[in-house]
Amino acid sequence: MASFDPFPVLTTPRLRLRSIEPGDVERIFRIQSDPEVTRYFGRGPDASIADSERRIATIIAGVREHTSIRWGITLEESGELVGTGGFWRWNKPHRWAEIGYELLPAFWNRGIMTEALRAMLRFGFESMELHRAEAQIDPENRASARVLERLGFAREGLLRQNWYYDGRYTDTAVYGLLRDDLEAAAT
Ligand SMILES: CC(C)(COP(=O)(O)OP(=O)(O)OC[C@H]1O[C@@H](n2cnc3c(N)ncnc32)[C@H](O)[C@@H]1OP(=O)(O)O)[C@@H](O)C(=O)NCCC(=O)NCCS
Repeated sequence: MASFDPFPVLTTPRLRLRSIEPGDVERIFRIQSDPEVTRYFGRGPDASIADSERRIATIIAGVREHTSIRWGITLEESGELVGTGGFWRWNKPHRWAEIGYELLPAFWNRGIMTEALRAMLRFGFESMELHRAEAQIDPENRASARVLERLGFAREGLLRQNWYYDGRYTDTAVYGLLRDDLEAAAT
């Protein structure tokens, strides 16, 4: 299985997916402090730069310990960091991991996340030897559901009211993609 050292940079026609570094904190804070971004996360936005510093430290530790991976999504043309995405909750014995992702709203609806996730999923199935990728989303997050469906994910079930935040319970939709599903969806 490939290690994450050196960090596996991935390229797509419009994007360069690279490691997230401490110097990215202002940009990560801009993304993570935006309530539009965190609307369906079942938690509040980052309130301070220190929150985003901790987030980056967790990402870097996960990569170093080979327990999770998150890429910074940058535009090939300008180098601008516009979002992040990657695998966490990696269950190595059973060969699956969960994906997570988010993008600055100014860049939504241009196919950026679909393009980025396709590259990450290919890496997951080929280099992390995953058999299954899983996504857990708020079923009201239509854009996220659409991205997953376009990539070939199947909606497998609904966890009813398993999340309590801000005085209310929300459901979680579970999506799964098996190794062969991704190639089938790309053709
Ligand atoms: C979810 C998210 C990553 C999508 O990124 P993106 O780059 O805009 O995604 P894409 O452009 O590749 O695809 C978006 C799709 O959703 C569709 N869409 C967008 N808003 C929608 C809405 N309100 N209802 C239905 N479909 C919607 C778009 O039309 C597009 O589908 P299409 O290509 O068939 O037209 C982005 O909206 C985001 O960062 N949201 C906040 C963070 C988040 O919720 N992350 C996921 C947590 S599980």
